[in-house]
Amino acid sequence: MTKTEYRFTFGTVESRVYIGEKLPAPGDDLYGTSKALVVCDTNTEYLVRRFPKGREIPCCVLPAGEEAKTWESVEHVLEAAYTAGLGRDGLIIGAGGGVITDIAGFAAAIYMRGVRLRLVSTTLLGMVDASVGGKTGFDLLGVKNLAGAFYPAEAVYMPLESLATLPHREWKSGMAEVIKTAVLAGDREMVSRIRSFRDVYLGGILDAGGRDEARNDLGYLISRAVEIKGRIVEEDPKETGERRALLNLGHTFGHALEASAGLGRLTHGEAVAWGVIRACELGHALGLTALEQALEIRELIQSYGYTTEAPHPAMGNMDGYFRALEGDKKKKAGRLVFIVPAKRSAEKITIDPEDLRFRAVLRSIINGDYHF
Ligand SMILES: NC(=O)c1ccc[n+]([C@@H]2O[C@H](COP(=O)([O-])OP(=O)(O)OC[C@H]3O[C@@H](n4cnc5c(N)ncnc54)[C@H](O)[C@@H]3O)[C@@H](O)[C@H]2O)c1
Repeated sequence: MTKTEYRFTFGTVESRVYIGEKLPAPGDDLYGTSKALVVCDTNTEYLVRRFPKGREIPCCVLPAGEEAKTWESVEHVLEAAYTAGLGRDGLIIGAGGGVITDIAGFAAAIYMRGVRLRLVSTTLLGMVDASVGGKTGFDLLGVKNLAGAFYPAEAVYMPLESLATLPHREWKSGMAEVIKTAVLAGDREMVSRIRSFRDVYLGGILDAGGRDEARNDLGYLISRAVEIKGRIVEEDPKETGERRALLNLGHTFGHALEASAGLGRLTHGEAVAWGVIRACELGHALGLTALEQALEIRELIQSYGYTTEAPHPAMGNMDGYFRALEGDKKKKAGRLVFIVPAKRSAEKITIDPEDLRFRAVLRSIINGDYHF
C-alpha cells in the first residue's frame, strides 16, 4: 500500500498518524533529538529490536496482555524513564497493542508532569482505535480504565508488516472495531471492503506476503477508521459533547459482558461485536434502527465468525451481567448511555435504569428473547 499520513488537532495538541507497510526506518526520525525510552511487551519486543538503533535505546519490557494494564506497570515505566535519564524534554515511545499504548501514554502524561509521547501501534485494534485520540490509562479495582488521562501522542506509526505475527483472535478483535466504525459512520465503501476482505481474513493468509488486493483492502480499512475516529475526536476531544460518545457504539453492552465474563477472558473486540448486535436490538425496539440496517449489521458481524447469540456463553449469570451494566452508570450520573445504529449513522440515548418499560426490553435482549 502507499503511505498515508493524517494530521489531527486534538485540543491544543497536533497529532500525526503515519500508516505504511514497514516498521519505522532511520529516515522516519522516530526518536527526534530527545532522550528516549521505548515501552513494549514480551510479544512486541522483537519488533522494537528491529527499529533503528533498536538494541541501543533503553527499553522497558512489560508482561503481555490486559492483566498487565496496572499501576505496577505504570510505575515500572516511570522507574525505567528515570533510570534512563529522561528529563522534562524526554520522549516515551509505546510500541505494542492498546495495553502498551495506553500504559506508555499515561506514564508520559505524568512523568515529570508530562513528556513527549510517540506510539508504534502493532495490533489491528490499536491501529484503528486505541492509539488514536489521546485516551490513556490503566485498570484498577477490577474496573477497566478506571484511572487515566487525555494525552494525545505527537506521532503514531502504524506499520502493517507488524501485523504478520498477530494471532487470529487479535485480528478478530480489531475487525470488530473496524465494523463498528463503518456502521457508525454509515460508510458504504468501508462495508463493501469489509466484505471483500473477509475471505482472505478467514483463510488466514495475511502473512507478510499476503495478496495485494487484501493488503489494499486492509490499508484502506485502517486508513478510513483512523480518519473517521480522528475527525470525530477533533470535534469533541474530551468527550464532553455528543460526538465522541458515538465511537462507543456497542460498548455499554460489550463492557458489561467483558466485566461479567471476567477481565481478559474475552477480547475487547469480541465483546464489542456482541454489543453492537444488542445495540441493534435496542435501537430496533425503540424505533431508531431500521430492520434492514439491523439485518445487514448482524450479517456482517456473523460473517466474521463472532459469537452473536444472547445470552453470551461466557457471560456468567444474568445478575452478574446486570450488576456490571449498573456499574457502568456510575460514570454517567446514574443514567445508562447507549449508542444505537440509526439512519445510516448512530444516535446516543440516555435512559433512566428505573424505567420499567426499558428494564423489560433490556432483560429480553440479554435473555435472547428479543428478535428483530
Ligand atoms: N485509548 C483508547 O482510546 C482505547 C481504545 C480501544 C481500546 N483501548 C484499550 O486497548 C486494549 C486492547 O488493545 P489490544 O487488543 O491491542 O490489546 P493488547 O495490547 O493486549 O494486544 C493483544 C495481544 O497481542 C499481542 N501483540 C501485540 N502486537 C503484536 C504483534 N505485532 N504480533 C504478535 N502479538 C502482538 C500483545 O502482546 C497481546 O498479547 C484494552 O486495554 C483497551 O482498553 C484503548
